[in-house]
Amino acid sequence: MARPVSEPVEDPTADQYGLAGHPVDHSWSPFIHGMFAKATGQNLAYRLFDIEPGAFRREALRLFTSGLKGLNVTLPHKQAAAELVNELTPRAARAQAVNTIAFYEDTTLLGDNTDGLGLLVDLETNLGLDLANKRVLVLGAGGAVRGILAPLLERPLRALVIANRTSARAKALATEFGDLGSVEGCGFEQVEGPPYDLIINGTSASLSGEMPQMPAGLVGEDTVCYDLAYGRGETPFTRWARSLHAARVDKGWGMLVEQAAASFALWRGVRPDTRPVLEALARFR
Ligand code: ATR
Repeated sequence: MARPVSEPVEDPTADQYGLAGHPVDHSWSPFIHGMFAKATGQNLAYRLFDIEPGAFRREALRLFTSGLKGLNVTLPHKQAAAELVNELTPRAARAQAVNTIAFYEDTTLLGDNTDGLGLLVDLETNLGLDLANKRVLVLGAGGAVRGILAPLLERPLRALVIANRTSARAKALATEFGDLGSVEGCGFEQVEGPPYDLIINGTSASLSGEMPQMPAGLVGEDTVCYDLAYGRGETPFTRWARSLHAARVDKGWGMLVEQAAASFALWRGVRPDTRPVLEALARFR
């Protein structure tokens, strides 16, 4: 059964939305969507649904049949969500991974992927990074990474390398996205310096408290390290980056807020201002 891990909002007229994942109890999405709803005067409730791997299709359909209007999707269900919907936006089709589903009155389920846009807005607008001519290393080759590759490759990068524990998955992704720009895939042990300008961690290794063993020489004094995961305190990746004196170390809080704003805009037709939410979260992170 899908387990709502936050209390349903009492207002029975509120439109229902939520996040499906496993685990989800750490999520800040109800707080973020709550702030967006208040600021834009939208009457909606946002709940968390803990859905076991393998049960996504059945449980998501049950939720939509019972009146849910939209669903965010996180680990490990993003690829299952792409298979469930009957229409994909071009960016979700490219990623073959979905983090946002909208359920329309004609019973269409539309799948979108706002992760890449969220990351790029955070890197470029919030953090002020210029990606032109930069060498970028992405760690991981799962659903989280699928969503960010196309927007990264739209930028005039000097190089993009995907490194993964299972090198075959990184190589397959590099082939799949190779028409968009120069991209290479390899195992962790094959990554070589000189130091990268930007290293993005898209593995779920942090969840188990691990940082994969990486070769030396990848982080220099100008390297920005960004963990797609968010949470309080350090992750194994941010600890690794700091120990190597990276120029800047960030986690995915800004990406979380920006992808949520894009989901909210798809569902409600109103684009919320992210600044007050980013400021509110800065007090907790
Ligand atoms: P997500 O949707 O978060 O990307 P996923 O599709 O299950 O979830 O992908 C998880 C990613 O984290 C994969 O790249 C996985 O590596 P493998 O392809 O080799 O499985 C990576 N990952 C998970 N645990 C890891 C660990 N302990 N060390 C290194 N990489 C890990």
